[in-house]
Amino acid sequence: MKYKNALPLTAALASLSMLCMPVVAADLLPYQDKNLSAEERVDDLISRMTLREKAGQMSQFVGLEHIKESESKLTAEQLNSSDAHGFYPGLRPADLLAMVEKSEIGSFLHVVNIEEANELQKHAMKSRLGIPLIIGIDAIHGNALVRGATVYPSPISAASSFNLDLVKKSSVETAKEMRANGSHWTFTPNVDVVRDPRWGRVGETFGEDPFLVAKMGVATVEGLQQTDFTGYDKVIANAKHFVGGGDSINGLNIAPLDVSERTLRQDYFPPFKEVLDAGVFTVMAAHNEVNGVPSHGSKFLLTDVLRGEWDFPGFVVSDWLDVDRLKTLHKVVPTHKDAVHLTVDSGMDMNMHGPQFAGPIIELVEEGRLTEARIDASVKPILLAKFRLGLFDNPYVDETLRDKVNFNSEHQQTALAMARESIVLLKNDNNVLPLKNVKNIFVTGPNADAHTTLGDWSLEQPEDNVTTILEGLQQVSGNKIKLDYLDVGKQVKVLSDEQITEAAKRAKSADVSIVVVGENPLRFDNEGKTSGENVARAELDLYGRQLELIKAVHAAGKPVIVVLINGRPISEPWLSENVDAIVEAWEPGSFGGQAVAEILYGKVNPSAKMPISVPYSVGHIQSIYNHKPSTYFKRYVDSPTKNLYEFGFGLSYSTFTYSELSLDKNSINKDGSATVTVKVTNTSDVAGDEVVQLYINDNYSQVTRPVKELKGFKRVSLGANESKKVSFTVTPDLLAYYNLAMQWGVESGDFTLMVGSSSRDSDLKTIQLNVK
Ligand code: BGC
Repeated sequence: MKYKNALPLTAALASLSMLCMPVVAADLLPYQDKNLSAEERVDDLISRMTLREKAGQMSQFVGLEHIKESESKLTAEQLNSSDAHGFYPGLRPADLLAMVEKSEIGSFLHVVNIEEANELQKHAMKSRLGIPLIIGIDAIHGNALVRGATVYPSPISAASSFNLDLVKKSSVETAKEMRANGSHWTFTPNVDVVRDPRWGRVGETFGEDPFLVAKMGVATVEGLQQTDFTGYDKVIANAKHFVGGGDSINGLNIAPLDVSERTLRQDYFPPFKEVLDAGVFTVMAAHNEVNGVPSHGSKFLLTDVLRGEWDFPGFVVSDWLDVDRLKTLHKVVPTHKDAVHLTVDSGMDMNMHGPQFAGPIIELVEEGRLTEARIDASVKPILLAKFRLGLFDNPYVDETLRDKVNFNSEHQQTALAMARESIVLLKNDNNVLPLKNVKNIFVTGPNADAHTTLGDWSLEQPEDNVTTILEGLQQVSGNKIKLDYLDVGKQVKVLSDEQITEAAKRAKSADVSIVVVGENPLRFDNEGKTSGENVARAELDLYGRQLELIKAVHAAGKPVIVVLINGRPISEPWLSENVDAIVEAWEPGSFGGQAVAEILYGKVNPSAKMPISVPYSVGHIQSIYNHKPSTYFKRYVDSPTKNLYEFGFGLSYSTFTYSELSLDKNSINKDGSATVTVKVTNTSDVAGDEVVQLYINDNYSQVTRPVKELKGFKRVSLGANESKKVSFTVTPDLLAYYNLAMQWGVESGDFTLMVGSSSRDSDLKTIQLNVK
């Protein structure tokens, strides 16, 4: 093949039809040649780039429509504290397009329509080397920042399903919807391990257990990237936030994390390591500092661990505006240029977001404070991603694709299936559920007819695409049942005396009441939201007067079913002690209302389990199940020393018993393995799914270890009165930990294996395994 040496095809490309760009081999430069490997193309391209163009690749900006919307909502001062809106005072859209043409921008985020995505790419094609843009978006549970997308249940819901196949399937579909709308990169999975449920972002995580978080993260990455993300229906994923946002001081987003290196390595690193092993191509640094060092300026995290220990081949993106915060918030450097120096020197590769990055990079190289080789190390994986995603060969989206892909019937079915498997039945006294022999149902509560079921990271979705709880009940109830709905508005913060009095009255004439309460995670409802990004709470009770509403309904003396829509645990002991049933629906997505109604009527048998424990009160935090042996040696004087609900817990309309727990061998070598098997029997007449859980405990260890640690789970379907044997392979790596010398390995001695239906001791059978 003969390559030409002159300037490339940019001018010609720009004038060619958007969707087909035939080029003759003789006109190609090596990096434009599809027949070369992506790596060869990167090497060729980077050798042609100026420093300015390289710095441009490291610079991300928010999309033009996003800017327009933000400008209409915020002042420049508010922008600095906003993590949801972005714009650049003094820079107009036309200025940004000119920068794209000069290769001064390599990436955009939050471009929410195809027309804009194609327009941006068209300008990128006019640049000297014709380098396409990579467009990122927070497609956290579906591409939900785009109107008309399928909104899958949020990650805390997904984790409750303990169903990795569904998580992977929804991620494959999310990738398709993203590509059909012009995005190539999603800032997910969030593999933060949550230890403080006051944090507003619990809903976008997989909960409190490192093992479950890791497995869910891996399934997400596998679905999104599908091996090496080569092609046009895959996207790159992003492991975030490295590291520790789920345990920030006081539960406030961005606040410091202060933990031992042992805790970091034992609990917070493993999900990142596992998603890296699964190929996740980007990592986002955390807003927070870790033990005094801001993550964005941590060579330990971004270079020594990520690149040194874990061989991460991809690139690190900053979190929103965090580079400048090295100076303005953390105060570890006196100037913005020093902040850019510190972060890039530490291992950060792409700035989210704005104009204050490329300039300082160029100056820092010219001054000799950063080497061009360091810049190349950032730019290479960014270009590699663009090549593998096929952007050099066609950066445009076919505008007709969106209508075929967004919210199509297959995606709808997946979202519904996930919702059905992610709703946890927490309480069901006297089998009040499933509903039977009822004629009159009273329904009320601020979340009964609200879109709060969509969770955070969703923008407003068309009414027709969202089934609220009320609509689900209307669909599923049939016409023999009368639903008496009292509309108390859609704001969990606002309930009036009149509404509460009216609810008390109407509940009296019903056979049963359903009260739908909880939180509001909607990022487009600035005034109303009570959870989500940057919405921490100091209390974990029901917000405002919601408990009063439930008490008033309860006083009618009829059975009360409470449905919770929430992205974080709600600590409300009165509910556990008084109402008849509690359905923890989390944030069940587009079809949440249908799934909840099907569960209430028994058309679907609940099967989900808690991915996070629910503390008795906010004062009981830290409430994790995998606590150390001495944690509860002493008691509180003013409150029960217990959780309201434990990790792994969830009821079913079936009853399951566990028996015949056995091991194929009682002892293994450090390179051996054993199989632990249990018989699970559905002792009821109702078919159902059970999530069988395996926990381990090291009976004696040099360094204290948690009383139990999840090391396996399997979802099994059991027909009425059916039994199945369920096995787990136990390998030494599942038993390993960091010993006194901080070496990873398994100690000789006895381990207790626990198998059962939740992390509660009373739900577990135990057996001993010896490691020689
Ligand atoms: C969040 C990230 C998110 C980014 C872009 C930040 O405020 O912390 O998780 O990916 O915004 O929206």
